[in-house]
Parts: sequence; C-alpha cells; structure tokens
Amino acid sequence: MRKNIVAGNWKMNLNFEEGVSLFSEIVNMVKDEVIGKQEVIVCSPFIHLNTISKLADTANNVSIGAQNIHQAESGAYTGEISASQAKSVGAEYVILGHSERRAYFGETDAILAEKVDAALKNSLFPIFCIGETKDERESGRFFDVIKSQLEKGVFHLDAEHFGKLILAYEPVWAIGTGLTASPEQAQEVHAFIRQVLADKYGADVAENTTILYGGSCNPSNAATLFSQKDIDGGLIGGASLKSRDFLEIVKTFNS
Ligand code: 13P
Repeated sequence: MRKNIVAGNWKMNLNFEEGVSLFSEIVNMVKDEVIGKQEVIVCSPFIHLNTISKLADTANNVSIGAQNIHQAESGAYTGEISASQAKSVGAEYVILGHSERRAYFGETDAILAEKVDAALKNSLFPIFCIGETKDERESGRFFDVIKSQLEKGVFHLDAEHFGKLILAYEPVWAIGTGLTASPEQAQEVHAFIRQVLADKYGADVAENTTILYGGSCNPSNAATLFSQKDIDGGLIGGASLKSRDFLEIVKTFNS
C-alpha cells in the first residue's frame, strides 16, 4: 500500500553522541506532535544504528535505515558492511542508488541491481533513488535517464519483490543546492515514474508504490511538494539534521 513517508538521510554527518541525541529528539517530537499515519524513517551512518534502533518507536511509526550496503553477503571487502550486518543492528531500510554513491563511489546500475537483491534477501527494504543531473535536465533527456535507471536497477524484480521498494526521485541538480524542483516539475516526473511502473508491473503496483521527492526539501516547500498527486513524501538531507525542521516537514501530513 502506498504510504506517506518522510525519511531523513543524515549522510556523513553527526558524531555518535550528536546522532543519538538528534534521534531521541525526533522520537519524542513525533510522539508529542504527530497525529497522522505518516511514517518516519531516519537513515543514519552505520555507527548510530545499533543504539538508535533501541530508541526507535514502532508504535509511532519511527524506524531506521542504513545509507548503503555492500552487495556481497560477507567476505574480504575491507571497510564494507553487508545487508545482513546492517540488519543485525536494527536497520529496516537502506538507501540505494543515491546520486552521491553513483557519482563518487562508482556505483553502476549493475552493482545497484545486486545491492537491491542483497537487501531484499535480508529483509531490508530499499529506498531506491533515481534522478537526472543538471545537464540531463537541460538537454531534455531526463525522462530517458530515469526510465533507464529503473530498468537497469530494479526491473529485474518480479512484482512481489518490487512491491517492497520505496522509490525516491532526487534530481541531482536540486540536492544540497538550495534549488528545488518546482512542484510542477516534480509532479511531472513522479507521474512519469508511475506510468513507467504501470507499463512494467500493471496499474495496481504503480498505484501502490510510494514515491518520495528529495532535493532541498524544507519546511517551507514541503507542503506544496507533498500535495502533488503523485508525491508521497520526501527524502530529506540537510533539513533532517535539525529536529525542528525535520518535524515540521513530517507534520505536513498531520492534517
Ligand atoms: P538535501 O535535502 O540536502 O538537498 O539532500 C537531499 C538528499 O540527497 C536526500 O537523500
């Protein structure tokens, strides 16, 4: 079932103490202030997961995720973390295909397809990111880019497994830049993604897939973005590092 979700991506920020303290604040604020059924996911660096998983509040729909996993189950991959290891410290979700991992860590569509499989095999739900660069937007190629990322990264899944994914549309030119896709631009792409899903998996799967928007989402623009028909919530970077800002975004779904 399609859900309203606000997920935070802390990226490589916050030391252990800062992260635990921010997460505790978020849990308390959600308990006190959230009156809807929206779900909150915090994707922290690995170092926080074991501790914050014990503070997560399933009764109030607050859960946690990792920001990456390696595609192998175990082995000689110095410095890497497997899906089962992330799961063993309480991660329920994992961000895959983030543009920063594609751009800076050479994660190809083929590697991402393997990571998606590794996550699902270990009962971690992928938050799979897709999105075009500035050049791809300006040259008008963005629909093709997004479709190809889906085809190569996740369309090997059957409908049952695909149904476990959350998608996030993150235009690369809007990430960390303060530039946000306009609600119309974002809605146009979300509707396109849903159509691509309908063509591949049928209308029911397309209707039931949660598609988040990410890219300079903040308390001032969240309501207009999230009110678009095909936008089911957000994947939040910078604004997820301040509990009040993050909560204001979550509370967009209160009414
Ligand atoms: P910002 O919200 O900082 O633009 O980051 C978005 C993002 O990359 C979330 O994954």
